[in-house]
Amino acid sequence: MSMDFTDQRLSYEKGALDQQSIPTSPFELLKGWISDATEQKVQEPYAMSLATCGADNKPSVRIVLMREITETGVVFYTNYESAKGQDIAENPNAEVLFFWHELERQVRISGSIAKIDANKSATYFQKRPHDSQVGAWVSQPQSGEVANREVMEQTFDQLQADYPENSQVPTPAFWGGYEITINEIEFWQGRANRMHDRIVYTQDSNEDKAGWTTKRLLP
Ligand SMILES: Cc1cc2nc3c(=O)[nH]c(=O)nc-3n(C[C@H](O)[C@H](O)[C@H](O)COP(=O)(O)O)c2cc1C
Repeated sequence: MSMDFTDQRLSYEKGALDQQSIPTSPFELLKGWISDATEQKVQEPYAMSLATCGADNKPSVRIVLMREITETGVVFYTNYESAKGQDIAENPNAEVLFFWHELERQVRISGSIAKIDANKSATYFQKRPHDSQVGAWVSQPQSGEVANREVMEQTFDQLQADYPENSQVPTPAFWGGYEITINEIEFWQGRANRMHDRIVYTQDSNEDKAGWTTKRLLP
């Protein structure tokens, strides 16, 4: 039996986005919106949907955690041999999407992905909690099939025995960060009557990295 949601609707009235008063740098606006989400106690404001598409032309989407906003893009960490890692190896074009319901805001980033420096990945890996480090070794290759949960738990216990709590877990070569260099970023603020504000920043191709053009899109 189907489920019908056509009577479900909300009016979005929490904010507005004015093209004249937004910062010239989209990074400033992104950081501001992340801070707003944090202040509003959004759970995991750094969680973003990452869409990739490999050579098979089939898009895939999943949540990853943004771990840094750099001067050129956003960084997340994962297993390089996962399904997403294989997509990225075949096609570096990707999008990420944040949605913060509490703020009635959405941010869509379009860009190209590349691995970050291995030393930087290792520094972050070593900073992670011990159990998360062990977990990264268990989930290899991430996205591969495992017979059952017991197999995972046995591997976890074996690794815990090999690397007790205060020992150093080696950084896996198959694990690390990716940076999505932002080419385009759209900020969406929900408004009443479906008259939402959508402002997209596009990087100027002929100028230095600081140049961005904005335009308003129909909602
Ligand atoms: C809130 C949340 C945060 C997540 N963060 C990450 C992350 O930072 N890195 C990661 O590899 N997977 C993360 N995952 C798991 C991914 O969504 C996904 O299941 C996993 O990376 C395998 O994706 P793939 O098979 O498409 O490669 C997270 C999932 C959730 C729900």
